[in-house]
Amino acid sequence: MKHIFQKGSDPAAPTLLLLHGTGGTEEDLLPLAARMDASASVLSVRGNILENGMPRFFRRLAEGVFDEADLIVRTHELHEFVDKASTEYEFDRDNVIAIGYSNGANIAGSLLFHIQHSLRGAILHHPMVPRRGIELPKLMATPIFIGAGRNDPICSPQETEELAELLQGAGASVTLHWEYNGHKLTGTEMKAAADWYNEHIKK
Ligand code: MLT
Repeated sequence: MKHIFQKGSDPAAPTLLLLHGTGGTEEDLLPLAARMDASASVLSVRGNILENGMPRFFRRLAEGVFDEADLIVRTHELHEFVDKASTEYEFDRDNVIAIGYSNGANIAGSLLFHIQHSLRGAILHHPMVPRRGIELPKLMATPIFIGAGRNDPICSPQETEELAELLQGAGASVTLHWEYNGHKLTGTEMKAAADWYNEHIKK
């Protein structure tokens, strides 16, 4: 997968797996990662799908309607890519924190839904429920931050709460942060995520 890897100065710090939104690239979230943890390694990936020229991490049939078969294939593809990258770039595969926005948050959510130990933790900005009707792997206190909008037209507050409940039901430790800025990723949400990271990940 097309990507950028930046080696961090602190080998004990997590590797931040950056996953952009629809139409984004691997460049988009780099400033956010630098603000979150300047000493961490960064693996920023570009989604392999193109929708009318816009990169995405998996296909969709319509706005908010995912192509489930493709989602599953792409989830495993991303997981295996991170496995290989950890060998190539020599980072700790068990210490990967995903930071995803919108479509990138959805593929990160899908990693949590489908593959045990794929992520040590996750920051999900405006995620949806990636799949329904499946049993999640045991998430054993996996720390997860969800940033959501009370007036998000793409992901309703009900869906956000459903996602939080599904993750908590699998044992994850979920922090929900609400904004009132639609589907946008704002400075206040990024600040809340950075505070959460310092408290729950960096310690
Ligand atoms: C998705 O397709 O992943 C969601 O609708 C979010 C988006 O990318 O617009």
